[in-house]
Amino acid sequence: MQSMPPDYLLDRRKFLSDSGRLLVMISSFGALACACKKEGESRLTELVIEKGRLVLDLNESRYHSLNTVGNGLKIEITRQEKPLIVTRVSETTVAAFSSQCTHAGYEILLPEQGVLACSSGHGGAFDLTGQLLSGPPKSNLPSYPTQLIANRIHIAYPLG
Ligand code: FES
Repeated sequence: MQSMPPDYLLDRRKFLSDSGRLLVMISSFGALACACKKEGESRLTELVIEKGRLVLDLNESRYHSLNTVGNGLKIEITRQEKPLIVTRVSETTVAAFSSQCTHAGYEILLPEQGVLACSSGHGGAFDLTGQLLSGPPKSNLPSYPTQLIANRIHIAYPLG
């Protein structure tokens, strides 16, 4: 069998670097594929990235639920991590945080009457901003800075 010349071998670091560039290129055109699971929680969709920030346009039907205070939406960024939860906290404020519980890593459910319960059944509960309300978790859900500007939510989520 003939061996491949070394320069044809894929260098892992170069691959990761080039992949990152490709992601940024795709992002700069405003489309990042996103596979999502359940109706009401998430959908097969595309994410819009502007200047390194995830942007949700609340005029789009897929994000309409976030026009109502108290609602939340899950957005799957990658298949390797639990979805991001975005909530409408008030008329003027929104929040975005991890859906991975800080107790034992189970997924957090969407809000009901202002409370996000942990799916584990251990009793963990968080408020609309991801702050711990009760249960065994010792800390809040990791959150990401958000801004609501002209009916668009901008989320400083680390995308690469
Ligand atoms: S994993 Fe969430 S309360 Fe235990």
